[in-house]
Formats: sequence, structure tokens, C-alpha cells
Amino acid sequence: MLLILVISFIITLFFVYVKWKLTYWSRCGLLNRETKFFVGTIWGLLKQDIGYAEHIKITYDFLRKNKQIHGGDYFFLRPIYIPVHPTVVKHVMSLDFPSFTDRGLYYNEEDPIHANMFFFGGTRWKKLRTKMTPTFTSGKIKMMFDTLTQCSTQLEMEIDKKRSEPVDIKDILGRYTTDVIGSVAFGVDINSLKNPNCKFRYLVDCYIRKNPWQNVQYYLTYLMPKVMRLFNHRPYDKIATDFCLETTKKIVDHREQHNVKRNDFMDMLIQLKNNGKLDDASADVESDKLTFLELAAQASLFFGAGFESTSTMICMALYELASNQKLQDRLREEISRELEKYDGKMTYEAMMSCTYLDQVINETFRLYPILNGLDRVCTKTYNVPGTDVVIEKGTKVIIPVVGLQRDPEYYPDPMKFDPERFSEENIKNIQPFTFIPFGAGPRFCIAERFGRMQTKVGLATIIKDYKLTVNPKTKVPIDCDPKSFFIVIKGGIWLNFERVNL
Ligand code: HEM
Repeated sequence: MLLILVISFIITLFFVYVKWKLTYWSRCGLLNRETKFFVGTIWGLLKQDIGYAEHIKITYDFLRKNKQIHGGDYFFLRPIYIPVHPTVVKHVMSLDFPSFTDRGLYYNEEDPIHANMFFFGGTRWKKLRTKMTPTFTSGKIKMMFDTLTQCSTQLEMEIDKKRSEPVDIKDILGRYTTDVIGSVAFGVDINSLKNPNCKFRYLVDCYIRKNPWQNVQYYLTYLMPKVMRLFNHRPYDKIATDFCLETTKKIVDHREQHNVKRNDFMDMLIQLKNNGKLDDASADVESDKLTFLELAAQASLFFGAGFESTSTMICMALYELASNQKLQDRLREEISRELEKYDGKMTYEAMMSCTYLDQVINETFRLYPILNGLDRVCTKTYNVPGTDVVIEKGTKVIIPVVGLQRDPEYYPDPMKFDPERFSEENIKNIQPFTFIPFGAGPRFCIAERFGRMQTKVGLATIIKDYKLTVNPKTKVPIDCDPKSFFIVIKGGIWLNFERVNL
């Protein structure tokens, strides 16, 4: 009898505790969507009925419909703060950055390549960011331009080979961006366009987590970092980690022993390892040196951040252009016109002067943000300006990028692909902090310039020579796989390629 009483008491206590946890936001005076016992608002995500992007969009729309400037969400019992109004977003990301310096994402110190700038917080992040920033100036990106165009020639050759049949562009573009980023981050000619089964592709698979069990683990580290820490979970595959470390070691040794220079990220990382600053930095720049492991971690981060984001963006842009011949023709005309000024060569200057190409790319970034929600954690208790709401230190924050960028108030007919939104005349009407595909504030994407340039070159290489149409093998409208954290199109995107410039 006593045992039954004790068990009933514990169960009641547990129920009261869960109920109390799931009323956190209403006690703070904020709205949230309906919750389910213990799982909070993520039941749809757990059942995999919807993907992460849709979850964020539904939460954002709910809060907007209820005329809220911010609100709450629950990942299991964990409260998540969601800024909704662009002004609140601006405060969190930029104006009041000292209260939100970290992403608060799970990483494991024992995993050498996981300990990188994306995951670090506080002064550790700041030091590394300051050190790495000069690596991404426009001057440095210009120096890497030749590498970009060399890989583009391979891309062209590969497409030419397959011209008579429909092409799954995700696969071919994934191999193209692997070659580009492998070349500039690791300094090696991967050539996965020619050799699809090379070992670097294995690394790529580890990053995008094709295997369903790895996908589940990824979600769990995201949703329940504290629990995963208890298990000392190591997110990176050991084979991939060893491969990264061995490859980096070989490259660094080779370059140092033979004094090889390639004007790429690896060159700059080696300078930071040996001198604590870039060779062209002024004498008064702080000079803490990078360790070899820090170097390898940043190279791997660049690799991981670089291939998937850019290939997805080029892919989505090509799909939209293949679906709209008028836009495609206009873009091809612009590219041909600008290249003609440089004897038909793909030069840095020609790319910089393609303004319609910029519009197309911006519209792709708007409609298909690579990160649907941006992570922050409150690092200092914070009173939201103009309200009584206090965000406690340690609270997770998600900035709903996909909600903002597809909000009909800011972007009428938001699902329509319309590059005119970013024309010289219209761009000034875009409300600040409603277009943040590269993030914003001090933690925005360090490689935005490079990512944009890589996307431009890849897109221009294809559009200048090929007329694209959507092959019936593509399911229209395209459908994203809800099981994947990133944009993965079910069944792929199949396009027909027809040469226009022979
Ligand atoms: C189309 C291409 C790309 C897109 C759309 C993109 C987008 C983003 C976004 C949204 C963030 C988070 C920003 C925030 O939290 O405010 C980010 C961070 C970051 N990205 Fe990118 N990215 C791209 C390409 C790249 C490339 C090529 C690299 C490396 C070579 C890179 C390196 C990084 C790093 C290191 C961070 C973390 C910055 C920090 O925490 O200080 N990204 N990126």
C-alpha cells in the first residue's frame, strides 16, 4: 500500500513538474502554441510529419496571427524564445549582442574537428573570429577566384558529357562545390566531378548525415544538448575525423617543407598557425598562434559550411530559372553581355558587374534560406526593450528566418520567385532584419562574400551556355524531405540541358 502511495506521489509530482515547466512562457507573459505533454510543441517534428523549416514557419505564423512581437516555444520542456518583429530581431542579433553572444549548440571538446568557430562562444569565439576575419576580405576572395573558375571548367565538361539525358543537378553541383571548397579550404584537387567515389565524398556524406540513425542523433543533439552531454556524445564519425586530421597534416607538412603557396584558406590558416597573424597584417595585430588542431578544425568547418550551402543555393536557383524561361533568358543575356567585355572570360570584374545575377541569387536566398532558424542563447539576463518581459540567462533563442523571409507583409505573394524584389529600385524598401540569409550582427556568416561569389560563378557557368527546362522526373511542386534538417528535395531535381552557345 505504501509503495502504491509513493509511486502515485512521484507520478503526480512528475505531472505537476511537467505542467509547471510547460507554463513557463505564460508566466512570463508570452504566447506559445498548444503544447503536448512532455514533448512541448515539437510533436509534429518528432513524428516527422513536418520538417524543422515548417515547424519554425508554423510557430512564426501563429505568433504573427496573434499580433505578437515575440513569443515562446518548447523543445520538450526547454523554453525557447522566439523574436518575431524585425525590431526585436535587430535587438537580439545586433544592438544587444553582448546579451546573446553564443549559439549555445552542442559540441564535444574531445572531438577535435568539432571544436570550431561556429560552436564556440564568448571570448574564445571572439578571439578566433577576430583572427579569421582578414581571411575573408574581398581582396582575399579575389585571389581565390582562379580556383573557383578552374573547378567551373570541370563542371561544364561534366554537364556536356551528360547533355543528352536529364541530370540530377543536386548530385553534380554537390560534387562541384566539394571540389571548390576542398581546393580552397584544404588546398587539394579533389576532382570529385571526375571521380565521384573519392574519399572526400565520404566526408560530405558524414556532414549531411544521409544515414537515418545519424539524422536522429543530429536532431537529439539539437533538441536535448544537456542529455547528449551526459552521454559524452561525439557527433562526428571517427573515420571522417581521422581522415580530416591526416589529410590536413599531410597538406600542412607538404606546404611547409616545400614552401608551397596557393593563395587559399589553407595558406592563411598556416600563416595564423606559424605567426598568429596573416603575412600582410600590420605589426600591431595580436599574435596568438593557432594550434594544429585549431587549424584542422577551422579547415573542416569551412569545408562543411561551404559545399552544402552553396550547392543547395545553385540548385534551387537553377530549378526556379528552369521553371521560368523569361527570367532565365534575361539572366543569360546579362551574363553574355558582361563576359563579352572581358573577351568571354569569367573574370572577377565581370561577375561583380552582373546585377541581375545578384537579384536572382538574393531571391533564392530569400525563398530557400539555408538555415531556417538561427540559434542564439541568452548569455546575460535581458529585458526586452519596451516590454516587461525578461529573458533569463541560459534561455535558447531561435530567430525564425524562414518566417520573416516568407512573410506576405514584407514580401507580397511570398512563394513566388521574383528577383524584382531585389532590383535597385525595390531593394531600398526591404525592411531591415527581414532578409537575413547569412545571419546578422557580429556572428553573421564570416564567408558571405565567398559564398555569394561561389554561387555566382557556379550559376553563371551553367546559365551562360545551357538552356534549362524541368524534366518530368522532377516532382512539381518540389517537396522537401521532413526527415532532414537541411533542404533535401524528395526525388531530386532533374533538369534537361540544351547547349545555347556552340
Ligand atoms: C551560400 C553560402 C552560405 C550561406 C547561405 C551561409 C549562411 C550562414 C549562416 C546563416 C550563418 C549563421 C549566421 C548567424 O548565426 O547569424 C553562417 C555562419 C557561418 N558560416 Fe556561412 N554560409 C555560406 C557559406 C559559407 C562558407 C563558404 C563558409 C566557409 C568558407 C562559411 C563559414 C561560416 C562560419 C565560419 C560561420 C560561423 C560564424 C561565427 O559564428 O562567427 N559559410 N553561415
